[in-house]
Amino acid sequence: SIWIQTAKMEKLTVLITNPTVPIVAIKEMEEKGYNIKIVNKEDRAEILQKLPGTHGLWWASQLKLDKEILDAAGPQLKMIGVMSAGYNHVSLDELKKRGIKASNTPNVLNDAVADVAVLLSLAAGRRMTEARWAIENNQWVNNEWKWMVGQDVRNSTIGIIGLGGIGFTTARRFKGFDVKDILYTGHKEKKEAAELGYKFVDLDALLAASDFVIVAVPLTAETQGFCDAAFFKKMKKNAVFVNISRGPVVDQPALINALKTGEIFAAGLDVMTPEPLPPDHELLKMPNVVVLPHIASATNHTRDGMAILTMQNLHRGLTGQPLLTPIFV
Ligand code: DGY
Repeated sequence: SIWIQTAKMEKLTVLITNPTVPIVAIKEMEEKGYNIKIVNKEDRAEILQKLPGTHGLWWASQLKLDKEILDAAGPQLKMIGVMSAGYNHVSLDELKKRGIKASNTPNVLNDAVADVAVLLSLAAGRRMTEARWAIENNQWVNNEWKWMVGQDVRNSTIGIIGLGGIGFTTARRFKGFDVKDILYTGHKEKKEAAELGYKFVDLDALLAASDFVIVAVPLTAETQGFCDAAFFKKMKKNAVFVNISRGPVVDQPALINALKTGEIFAAGLDVMTPEPLPPDHELLKMPNVVVLPHIASATNHTRDGMAILTMQNLHRGLTGQPLLTPIFV
């Protein structure tokens, strides 16, 4: 039941922290009978002001979901639907302390994000930024045989750091490019990966062998700053570095240095520090960097899928049913 017994019968309230959440899911929530509150823009002050008395919180935001937010909501808050795969911005300890359930949106974005992992690998490997600038600067060169040559994907070695849903889907796509080897590293070897011929190696072996290194790990205390100066030194000089996870996984000054000194060939980044990236940022002035504004999951189908999954989880959490994709149990 979505009705709770207070002095008088009262509908459960769900606060949505972002006015741009796909309307399909909001409508369905209303049809189920919830009282929906939406903040006008993704704004912490407005969220704090509208939170008191909320039972469910639809967190479509990269803002920190912490003690201050939970205290402002009050003890009736029972369920949080985080509308992203990553939940590095959520204080899980604070949720557990209060017995609040939480879900995220894994898997529904695997295809869209894996597409961008491949897109960035190819774009950075084939010098897309620099090539485009050549046209704009009237420096297009015809008939010079090795002008603007980039990296081959065929017969290359792909190294995936973190073979979760996104890493796995990325690997599957690369198989279609006739690569030589797909290596991966992480906490443990995966049986399904071995069956597909993907090889589990340690980080050093992966960096030493890979022509494309793709980071697909969540941001945690363990992975923060994981791709540091020593990491880039271990990569091949022709190698392309791709990050579709979270910016802080990378020591960005160390990456910029590796790109400038030719320690690595190029980088393709959907995530960086900070976000949004200021338009005069150094990364945008580098010929061997392809940057996207954190849009890997931005397809219509994927974004609707993330909203519907969040809606389903919120409803299940608020009506005592098991969550489809719990962050913790
Ligand atoms: C995710 O779902 O984690 C994407 O990066 C969007 O925030």
